[in-house]
Amino acid sequence: MIRVGDERTPPERSARHSGVHRRPGDVGSRNFFPLGRHVAHVRRLTAQEWPRYRDLRLRALADAPDAFGSTLARERDRTDSDWQLRLSAGASSAAELPLVLVDGAEFVGLAWGRIDGATPDVAHVFQMWVAPEGRGQGGGRSLLDTLISWARETGAAFVELDVTCGDTAARRLYERAGFRPVGVPRPLRPGSALMARRMRRVL
Ligand SMILES: CC(C)(COP(=O)(O)OP(=O)(O)OC[C@H]1O[C@@H](n2cnc3c(N)ncnc32)[C@H](O)[C@@H]1OP(=O)(O)O)[C@@H](O)C(=O)NCCC(=O)NCCS
Repeated sequence: MIRVGDERTPPERSARHSGVHRRPGDVGSRNFFPLGRHVAHVRRLTAQEWPRYRDLRLRALADAPDAFGSTLARERDRTDSDWQLRLSAGASSAAELPLVLVDGAEFVGLAWGRIDGATPDVAHVFQMWVAPEGRGQGGGRSLLDTLISWARETGAAFVELDVTCGDTAARRLYERAGFRPVGVPRPLRPGSALMARRMRRVL
């Protein structure tokens, strides 16, 4: 079972993050919060939601092509069966946590956690994205906090991710959540001029 704590001490939390509601069965103990006109929350994706996951992931890649190791061209080439298999494997695995940020009836954010069998002490974060209309309201932090708490519950010692170098919202989000750079910058993807930096949070 996933139980999620709030990683921030009260003085660090802004007022906009404080109106959090709880509902049984959701990941996170503080994963409901006002976002736009609705109450948003974070939960695990189900296998049946693969078409919405596919659409959101493609939207993320189109919106923020410099933020991810993969590309829109590559992901767009995947078949429905690929998407279905990917999500059904992730949704049913204890070593993966595919998350969605839900605002009313809309899916407005994604993140995916994974622990590889070879390095069970490290939880990896991928696919972090919040739709432009939902940004700046705590959605990214809620996705990240949920992944951090899940990683801790699995017994991992670290959470790691790669972020494109620069003074970006993503970089600040991770720094605020206690991630620190490790290692040297490397190309975001083979042949790319963009550099990415690994960041790590000790649990
Ligand atoms: C990075 C991203 C996920 C943040 O989502 P978000 O919902 O806007 O983030 P939050 O509202 O939860 O903000 C969390 C923290 O991030 C920082 N932050 C987020 N957006 C910021 C901005 N535009 N300017 C400054 N700081 C920002 C703040 O420190 C904030 O903490 P605070 O509110 O306590 O000060 C979102 O901007 C995004 O999807 N960007 C494009 C994709 C991307 O870069 N993904 C990361 C891949 S590694």
